[in-house]
Amino acid sequence: MDQALRDKLARDPHRPRYHFLPPAHWMNDPNGPIQYRGEYHLFYQHNPDGAYHANMHWGHAVSRDLVHWRHLPIALAPTPGGPDKDGIWSGCAVLHEGVPSILYTGVHPQVQCLARSYDDMLTWQKYPGNPVIAAPPQGLRVTGFRDPFAWREGDEWRVVIGSGLEGVGGAALLYRSRDLIHWEYLGPLCIGKIEESGKMWECPNFFPLGAKHALAVSPYGKVIYFLGEYDGRTFRPETRGLLDLGESFYAPNCLLDNKGRRIMWGWLKEARGKEAQIASGWSGLHSLPRELFLHPDGALGVRPVTELQVLRGTHRHFADLAIAPGASYLLGDLRGDMLEIIATIAPGDATEFGLVVRRAPDESEQAIIAYGVAERRLSINGEHSSLDETVTRKVVGDILGLTGLKELTLHVFLDRSVIEVYANERAALTARVYPTRADSLGVDAFAVGGSARVLSCDVWEMQGIW
Ligand code: FRU
Repeated sequence: MDQALRDKLARDPHRPRYHFLPPAHWMNDPNGPIQYRGEYHLFYQHNPDGAYHANMHWGHAVSRDLVHWRHLPIALAPTPGGPDKDGIWSGCAVLHEGVPSILYTGVHPQVQCLARSYDDMLTWQKYPGNPVIAAPPQGLRVTGFRDPFAWREGDEWRVVIGSGLEGVGGAALLYRSRDLIHWEYLGPLCIGKIEESGKMWECPNFFPLGAKHALAVSPYGKVIYFLGEYDGRTFRPETRGLLDLGESFYAPNCLLDNKGRRIMWGWLKEARGKEAQIASGWSGLHSLPRELFLHPDGALGVRPVTELQVLRGTHRHFADLAIAPGASYLLGDLRGDMLEIIATIAPGDATEFGLVVRRAPDESEQAIIAYGVAERRLSINGEHSSLDETVTRKVVGDILGLTGLKELTLHVFLDRSVIEVYANERAALTARVYPTRADSLGVDAFAVGGSARVLSCDVWEMQGIW
């Protein structure tokens, strides 16, 4: 990377400092997260030539603690004349008989390919007989055929491939293999309805969670998860929800680590225009690593991994503050764009309450993290988050589904242009904001329609990871 680009990235006030992202240029989906010899490896969709989606490669990074990452050489690049000549699209990584192995999608047409590493994942050899799955199952009219996700079942490998049946809905197609080379189609693991979950399921993830199985799919909109029963051939969804209530988080991928945790990362998209992304020299990042689990009531749980606490610096604590409607500066002079905030708020008789972040002293810029009590809706209002009219500024959010709410714990991470919120460990909500003013740093609590109460609020300044 040349020095001019390096300086530009270092100066960019929107570039996150403790979320994972590539050294420069474009990234989208997390690919093939895997724990190997005690370290976590992440790969990702990457264009090494610029901050736009083209010529996809797999970038690669490694971490001991899930927090600090070291960039490694690009793992996979398209081979001219090969089945992946037009791009190395998303996929997964597994250990087959001790050999690190990647399954990915080559385009056009969409086919599944294999690559293996014999030097601890520094370099990758593509299987000479690629593709290993050369076409969608015969007789199916599909809307796509990509993003293999593999797991071990007995003495076989299973893979689901993201797809959709024309006129029917998104689909996850199930295969099995003993060697990752020869694959047998078993049938659809699950088929959705267009009206409910779109016409194409990108990046399916399928895994046991507690006593249930979970299927996550990316249907060109918010990422949907289903919880249900798996009989070894088909998955029957019983409940469903959103993995993130916002519009930034997409195409997640996950691993099971040696502590038994199901850890997931998603791609956090930009809300800047294409030209701004290209001009800035970077686009896209990963969400924080999120642990998924089941609550005792059977609902999906989501929380940031505890390892992130190593980034905590200066700490402030607030307790027992009444939030009257219209009051401000409840958290004093608290400011920052790299903060972790854990605020537990009792709604009292407020109809809406929450936190204001990235606020300019004259309130010309601010983002509002709000919970609407009657609607049970968690949102981030970014309509006034930036004076820059070229960035998307809107309200994002969705129904949180909490009933009989007594306390809401908002666990918030501010990292420059990222606002990542976890609510009662039951939902996540991410948004992107691009304030223009250097002093858009204020943090406050607010209530509307009645008084709420901050029971406790802990705030840490966060350190960067590089
Ligand atoms: C999801 C996705 C995948 C595809 C990849 C290409 O964002 O469209 O379906 O494999 O990105 O970069």
